[in-house]
Amino acid sequence: MDPLLRAIAEDSGLGICVLAPDRQLVFYSARCASMTHREPETLACYEDLLEVTYLEDDEGDLELEIGTELAARVRELEPRRRSLFDLTLPELYEGWLRPESGELRRLEVRRRTLADGSVLWILRDTTEQRQIEAAYQQKQRELDRALFDLKRSQAYLVQSEKLATVGQLAAGIAHELNTPLNTILGYAQLLRRQLPTEELRAEIDAIEKASRRCRKTVKDMLSFTRKSSGTFEAQPLNKVVRGVVSLLQHDFLTRGIELRLKLGSDDPQVVMDANRLEQIFVILAQNAAQAMPEGGTLSVESRVHGANVEVLVRDNGQGIAGENLPHIFEPFFTTKEPGEGTGLGLYIAYQIAVQHKGDIKVWSRPEVGSEFLVRLPLA
Ligand SMILES: Nc1ncnc2c1ncn2[C@@H]1O[C@H](COP(=O)(O)OP(=O)(O)OP(=O)(O)O)[C@@H](O)[C@H]1O
Ligand SMILES: [Mg+2]
Repeated sequence: MDPLLRAIAEDSGLGICVLAPDRQLVFYSARCASMTHREPETLACYEDLLEVTYLEDDEGDLELEIGTELAARVRELEPRRRSLFDLTLPELYEGWLRPESGELRRLEVRRRTLADGSVLWILRDTTEQRQIEAAYQQKQRELDRALFDLKRSQAYLVQSEKLATVGQLAAGIAHELNTPLNTILGYAQLLRRQLPTEELRAEIDAIEKASRRCRKTVKDMLSFTRKSSGTFEAQPLNKVVRGVVSLLQHDFLTRGIELRLKLGSDDPQVVMDANRLEQIFVILAQNAAQAMPEGGTLSVESRVHGANVEVLVRDNGQGIAGENLPHIFEPFFTTKEPGEGTGLGLYIAYQIAVQHKGDIKVWSRPEVGSEFLVRLPLA
């Protein structure tokens, strides 16, 4: 072979092999030798080349997937070896190469038949390139995923901002109602004293009673919408549960829902941000009520179990379909009609539980009911 061509071939970094028209080997570059772990001296003709080494189409992938030993057994059952220099291979081919010694490498094989009938092979080791490509694709997927998560949390932020605004609005209204309610109550009491007959007094009593109830609702609302203090301190959990129940009691009664409260006799303490923690029970109770449109029973029980306090919120409503169960704590997962539910309730409840180093578990059967278990560590 021409010395100049030989020098170029050797310096190219590619494995280059040339076979003369009479099938005698005329050139086998040093890079070719190192790729195939064969010395050129041991190779003379095409038949020798065929013996050199074989390519594995997908078995290289197989080996990476199931391990060397298992892949070897599969290969024994179904040999699919083809020599690197097999003339029946396509002109551009990529496969795995396993030299008799050495590690599995990915190789691109280009073959050209020249005008005089000689055959030229150009081998390129693409192992690193493919690894980089695979790593790049993996990173790309991670990036896509991160972007997706980002978009989702952005949407969540917008939603919670909206919820916060609604909360502020409610607090504002509650505040506005407080003063006139006090006026009504005050004048009702004054009037009663000035009324001559017992009969008239009874009517004023009714006004007084109704306005007291309104004032209590307003007070509960104010305490509920009060911004969370952000401070955690040990407090009795049952107090929080009782507060939520008393806030919802009236509404539940009008919906035909019986509330059964069974709190453990001891009053376990939990390190909490009470204003946030009570949201968990409001969310669970509201979901339960929505699952019992025809009325039903909502029972709330608390107990100490090991190092935790557990609150069980159980309803006998519609229950949750098996395929929905794994998704109910995901943000925006809802089975409610558009405009009826944002699907954020349980997501928020779960986040609050996690902030308190606890969690929420769920059991549910369609048409039977649901049970949510809130678990929080004892202070
Ligand atoms: N007690 C329950 N009984 C039956 N299904 C429930 C119960 N609690 C939750 N679910 C199901 O889980 C879904 C998600 O509840 P989540 O509170 O997160 O959102 P939502 O109630 O749909 O909307 P919102 O954000 O207004 O609360 C509900 O749409 C409902 O299908
Ligand atoms: Mg809800």
